[in-house]
Amino acid sequence: MDSPHTIRIIGDPVLRERAAEVTDIDGRLARLCEDMFSTMYAAPGVGLAAPQVGVAKRFFVYDVEDHVGPQVLINPVIEESEGEWEFTEGCLSIPGLHFDIVRPRVVHVTGRNLDGDEVSLTAEDFLARVIQHELDHLDGVLMVERLDEDQRKAARRAVRKLQLEATEPPTGLAARFGLR
Ligand code: NI
Repeated sequence: MDSPHTIRIIGDPVLRERAAEVTDIDGRLARLCEDMFSTMYAAPGVGLAAPQVGVAKRFFVYDVEDHVGPQVLINPVIEESEGEWEFTEGCLSIPGLHFDIVRPRVVHVTGRNLDGDEVSLTAEDFLARVIQHELDHLDGVLMVERLDEDQRKAARRAVRKLQLEATEPPTGLAARFGLR
C-alpha cells in the first residue's frame, strides 16, 4: 500500500511539541487525513497523530477494526477517565519497541469530526488505549514517558540504539522495519 508520508521517529523535535488547536476543518484537512490513513495502514498501525507526519496540529486518525471503521478526531479532550488497565503498547514513532503501560481503562472524550460536528464518545479497553496514546502525541508526550522507574532504564537504552540506527544509512531503520 502507498505511504504518502514518512513517519517521524523519536528524537524528531515535532514529536515533543504541544500541537496547536485546529481552526479550519476544510478540504485540505480532509485530504491530509486521507494520506494519514494510507500511511497508517501501510505501516501497519491502528492510530496515527498529526505530529507523527510532521504536522503540529491537534488531530489524529484511527481504525481499531471495529464496526465503526476509520475515524478522525479533531481537537480532542478527555473529559473523564476511570479504572486502571495494563496493556502492551507500541508506537509507529518508536518502531519495534513495546512496553507494558498502565492507563485508565475507560475515557470519555469530546472533539470534532471532519464534518465539523461535535463528537462525544465513551471508549473502553483497546479503543480507550488508542485514544489516550494518540492524544498524548498531541501534547508532545511519547509512551516512554508513561513508564515507571524500573522500565525506564531499559527503555532509554533501547531508544538510544534505535536512534543510532536511524541515522545510519543505508541499512538503518527504514530497511529494518520496512518503513518508507
Ligand atoms: Ni504513537
